[in-house]
Amino acid sequence: MPRHAFAPLLLLLFLPGGLVFALFSTAPPGFVAGQVVDDSGPVAGARVRFKAQPDAVWSDRAGRFFLPLSPGPVQRVTATHPGYFIGGASSERAPVSVRLRRLPTEDCPEYAWVAPTPNRLQSHQCGNCHAEIYREWAASGHARAATNRRFLNLYDGTDWQGRPNVGWNLLADQPDGASVCAACHVPTIPSVFDDVRAVQGTAAHGVHCDYCHKIDRLDERADLGKTFGSFAYRLLRPKEGQLFFGPLDDVDRNEDVYSPFYRESRYCAGCHEGTVFGVHAYGTFSEWLASPARREGKSCQSCHMKPTGLMTNIAPGKGGVERDPQTLASHGMFAGSQAAMLRQSVRLEVNDFEQAGNAISFEVVVSARDVGHRVPTGFPDRHLVLVVDTQPTGDDMPLAFGPVLPASAGPELAGRPGKLFAKQLTDADGDAPAPFWRALPEFSDTRLTPGRPDRSRFRLLNPQRVELRLLYRRFWPSTTASKGWPDETIVLATKSVYVAR
Ligand code: HEC
Ligand code: HEC
Ligand code: HEC
Ligand code: HEC
Ligand code: HEC
Repeated sequence: MPRHAFAPLLLLLFLPGGLVFALFSTAPPGFVAGQVVDDSGPVAGARVRFKAQPDAVWSDRAGRFFLPLSPGPVQRVTATHPGYFIGGASSERAPVSVRLRRLPTEDCPEYAWVAPTPNRLQSHQCGNCHAEIYREWAASGHARAATNRRFLNLYDGTDWQGRPNVGWNLLADQPDGASVCAACHVPTIPSVFDDVRAVQGTAAHGVHCDYCHKIDRLDERADLGKTFGSFAYRLLRPKEGQLFFGPLDDVDRNEDVYSPFYRESRYCAGCHEGTVFGVHAYGTFSEWLASPARREGKSCQSCHMKPTGLMTNIAPGKGGVERDPQTLASHGMFAGSQAAMLRQSVRLEVNDFEQAGNAISFEVVVSARDVGHRVPTGFPDRHLVLVVDTQPTGDDMPLAFGPVLPASAGPELAGRPGKLFAKQLTDADGDAPAPFWRALPEFSDTRLTPGRPDRSRFRLLNPQRVELRLLYRRFWPSTTASKGWPDETIVLATKSVYVAR
């Protein structure tokens, strides 16, 4: 065929495929022809590509396709369609026929979970082949969700040293609460009546590979947020063989299933949204729904699983192929580190500085940006503290005007000029901060909202020095102190405002 006939041909591809086939019984030059079928005939609307190549086409009503040839050696053609495993065939002999196998129709609760850990004697364990992904996941909170010492200290009332009956204690307050925590922290606990502390085997790996990659969808009958974790997700566990859902549509190993759901924020919502014991303790997904990031089309994964650009093969030497590193997600959950993500998401500025006689006044603006939810988000006790450090301090407290820090900011900071950005939960006796499992449903929420800078004005008398500090804390100081936990305050920003001459 002459070269100039090529362009109209491309246009024809957009016509109903049957017509194209009627016009050309064999593939035009530059294309490979083929058909997608299942056990009962052609499969229409299947997505077809050369493995690990960017361009894809769809099969027509007769299951047929023309795939533009890509340069390089002969490759495999892969096809995917909802309800089937990903299929593949060699493109060596045309026309290519790709046969798709249907997914099992029912979840098999007897399926034995596969552990993530590399192990020479257990060849199917994920870490044996997915070494890099395993390393990323193992360093993340998901890997520690069931065994996290702080989580267990709050769960059973122990402290860091293991002493019993110290401070907050879920089991004492809510003896039936174990299954509630397990739903998100230990989703493969064998029975909802099991004690989280006694969990062994794969379940002790918390939010692990095999659980996450068996998630088919959110239960359509579940009320998202009120039903959560293992109660919110519908799984598809095979009776025999293996089945992994994932974001790649060209893994034709006979056990992988393409699922676009894995790139949606809703995928994370089952565990990152929770009204627990009547309190909206975890609200990250609903915060995301209201965020500018969502309007800009940014999913949880686009920030938290952003490709590092370093991994080019997800299973090197074990059947993996070289891929564009920008198509392979990271399982670290924090790009860089949590501190790096926190620092890049908050901004501390000083405006309108004025000096009149022995008084200075200024406005502090704290804002959140490039973030998909409020700051902080997640566990309800996370908080930020803006501290206005002045000298002299103490009895000569020079604040003439402006907010001061409440008692919950801790004995060291309470009463000093500053501001708290927090969800503040109170219990029925009026005690605050209260653990979420004992709190009243109403609470005050002063956390930062992206796109809405927080402004406060301070006026100070006779200060010698004024500095600002913005801190992030994982837990309330009273909890950290009573439990004997190491302090893990992160300094997000500091700013010098004034030094007397
Ligand atoms: C089966 C429940 C579950 C699912 C699904 C889930 N998470 Fe989590 N996630 C958790 C739990 C529980 C923790 C807290 C673990 C801990 O610190 O003990 C957590 C922690 C995190 C953290 C903090 C990580 C750290 O290292 O401290 C981030 C970020 C996060 N998840 C993001 C996501 C994103 C993004 C998704 C969706 C792609 C997701 N999660 C899906 C349960 C889940
Ligand atoms: C919290 C749930 C969760 C856990 C735990 C998890 N994954 Fe994933 N995984 C995902 C999601 C979501 C994606 C898709 C992310 C995207 O494409 O943006 C993904 C992507 C993948 C991919 C496709 C390649 C890539 O990196 O994009 C592989 C392979 C994979 N996961 C394997 C694993 C293995 C192995 C483990 C354990 C070491 C694991 N996953 C743990 C949710 C999870
Ligand atoms: C024997 C090696 C091996 C083991 C063990 C293994 N995988 Fe894989 N997995 C692979 C290979 C090879 C690929 C495809 C790589 C490619 O195409 O680049 C893959 C692909 C995947 C994908 C991508 C599916 C898609 O369509 O997006 C997921 C998810 C995944 N594996 C999860 C797991 C999980 C979870 C475990 C442990 C329960 C596991 N794998 C164990 C070799 C393995
Ligand atoms: C635009 C990027 C972006 C998007 C989208 C995004 N996040 Fe985040 N996330 C961040 C940044 C930056 C931080 C660190 C600042 C903070 O803690 O808020 C963070 C922190 C977190 C934390 C840790 C909170 C803590 O203090 O322990 C969790 C959990 C989390 N995100 C989950 C999610 C989930 C779930 C979604 C989707 C519903 C999501 N994020 C969407 C950027 C994003
Ligand atoms: C709706 C799912 C869900 C339920 C139910 C749940 N959690 Fe969490 N939990 C999470 C997520 C998601 C995170 C991570 C958020 C973040 O990093 O800020 C988390 C984090 C935590 C942390 C912080 C860990 C750390 O080291 O920073 C503690 C402690 C905790 N949960 C205790 C509990 C207890 C106790 C229960 C039972 C009363 C419980 N959670 C029930 C989802 C849940």
